[in-house]
Amino acid sequence: MTASFTRKRSAHLVLGLALVCAPLAHAGKPTLDDGNVRISSNENAFGFTPKALERMRDALDSGNYYNGNEVAEMVRLCAAYEGVKEEFILPTAGSGPVLMMTAWSYAKPGKNVVTTETGYGQLTRAFADHGGDVITVPLAENMGYDLKALGRAISENTAIVYICNPNNPTGVIADPAELRRFIMAVPPSVLVFVDEAYLELSDTGLQANTMAPLVKVRKNLIISRTFSKAHGMAGLRAGYGVAHPEVLANLRKFYAGGPSYLAAIAAQEAIKDKAHMEANRQKYKEVRDYVCSQFDRMGIKYASPQGAFIYFNAGMKRNQIVTKLRDAKIVIGGVRGGVESPDGGGDWTRVSLGTREEMDMFLTELSKILGKT
Ligand SMILES: Cc1ncc(COP(=O)(O)O)c(C=O)c1O
Repeated sequence: MTASFTRKRSAHLVLGLALVCAPLAHAGKPTLDDGNVRISSNENAFGFTPKALERMRDALDSGNYYNGNEVAEMVRLCAAYEGVKEEFILPTAGSGPVLMMTAWSYAKPGKNVVTTETGYGQLTRAFADHGGDVITVPLAENMGYDLKALGRAISENTAIVYICNPNNPTGVIADPAELRRFIMAVPPSVLVFVDEAYLELSDTGLQANTMAPLVKVRKNLIISRTFSKAHGMAGLRAGYGVAHPEVLANLRKFYAGGPSYLAAIAAQEAIKDKAHMEANRQKYKEVRDYVCSQFDRMGIKYASPQGAFIYFNAGMKRNQIVTKLRDAKIVIGGVRGGVESPDGGGDWTRVSLGTREEMDMFLTELSKILGKT
């Protein structure tokens, strides 16, 4: 007992020192230690709750054990957060697995997923890889989802309608009443997937916009939630799906494991620390408003942003902007500095929101590239 206590204490001391001395790439630091400003993957530059760090530090030297009650407690808290029973929650390592498992369990030749032309591609790519078809409709004029067009695209072969709200990459949020009406009108044979990865960061917040309560009345609905964005835990990997247990049973056939015990502990603290989340939401709002005001000043068009990024049109092809910014050590458009579409870009570019300092560096370089200084 005493020996194990001593071992634990000294392990904490060593780890504590290591954490203090290590060059931290995250937790609000404006740049990575490789000297690049990374505003490419909608990561949270403001960092996660210090309470999660504290509890993970305490738990680190229990890594020789499998997860005990950590994930179960995370599920309990997630269910309370969503206002549903625990069997409506499927805990995962980030929300990506919810998208993948849904694609894998619903895709087959002859079946299709209906979505928008410019959107997040993880689910649709996996659906196509597993033999299904992807049907896309153009964005609405405001670059949000055109729900009427989505509705018209649904046929007897449709397995899933995928909606990302706010949409990635455009950032536009749906009107909650309209989205609710849409969901209620979709035929019960079609699963509506609402990806709410960025919803907590919107101006009006999660409660006013989430579709999660509808899972209690619609069996053909699934919501994905992540700790990667508003909660700032992208590297830790925690997320979950919210749906009727019958839907989750389909996904479970492809379940490859949930979050690690450390990620589950961090997720618990993230849910409990409402003040941290609210502070993060405010920081995003401030930086979003700031970049928009600078874009206005520079005459740059942008779609109304409600997430962790802004979609803008600066009158120059995306490839060019991405490449020139990369030369200045500012990485946008994918972690690998990649360009998202094979057609050489297009007129619209997405920049993730980082700290005010990071955004100033981005704006200064963008001004130079556009010859505006
Ligand atoms: C819209 C959207 N959904 C889901 C994800 C998956 O992220 P994670 O697996 O970290 O939750 C991302 C990641 O960028 C995203 O942008």
